[in-house]
Amino acid sequence: MARKLKVGVLASGGGTNLQAIIDRAADGRIDAEVAIVISDVRDAYALERARIAGIHYAFIDPRDLPNRDAPPHDRRASFNRAVIQKLRDHDVELVALAGYLRITSDEFVDAFEGRIMNIHPSLIPSFCGKGMHGLRVHQAALDYGVKVSGCTVHFVTKEVDAGPIIIQRTAPVLDDDTPETLQARILEQEYQAYSEAIQLFAEGRLRIVGRRVRVVAREGA
Ligand code: GRF
Repeated sequence: MARKLKVGVLASGGGTNLQAIIDRAADGRIDAEVAIVISDVRDAYALERARIAGIHYAFIDPRDLPNRDAPPHDRRASFNRAVIQKLRDHDVELVALAGYLRITSDEFVDAFEGRIMNIHPSLIPSFCGKGMHGLRVHQAALDYGVKVSGCTVHFVTKEVDAGPIIIQRTAPVLDDDTPETLQARILEQEYQAYSEAIQLFAEGRLRIVGRRVRVVAREGA
């Protein structure tokens, strides 16, 4: 049996991408196991999904850290440190952001350099960047009138939504789409894209070369 990559998932919301990863890890479609799920939102349904699946989970309260009187920057730093520590406690090798609404700190990115992925529900560099999340992304795509949208899995760097792209998958935009119908169509592509990216990482086949990510052949292939 292939060694399983230990993945830590960070999620702030419903966690359907998390569920897709859990399901594919459980049935062996990806050589990974979700070692810990962390949320910055106490009642995020993602945590409930982890509980149901018997996976470790933790809520880390961004407002409830020892130095709550410290300036916001310091509080953010201690929150990020707590998240880094929790991931390390569970020997996480790859961090997957899945609907995680916080911007990762530089310290966080340094701690897991080249080992943090994010999924975004558009074809980056369209409709991305600070404040672009959830239905806003799909509304922006509809307002612009694009005929094709999709999703992007990318490595996380210090600039929001700007890291090297691993996989993109497309979905058509239909005349009668609402942000909700477009979101649902793209989510189906997200589940596929994220597990493909995680599997490639697990197989050690991703090489970051400048802005590009190259997929190398499987060893022995
Ligand atoms: C997804 O559309 C993902 O691309 C974005 O946030 C959404 C999370 O959805 N980053 P879910 O919580 O996985 O259902």
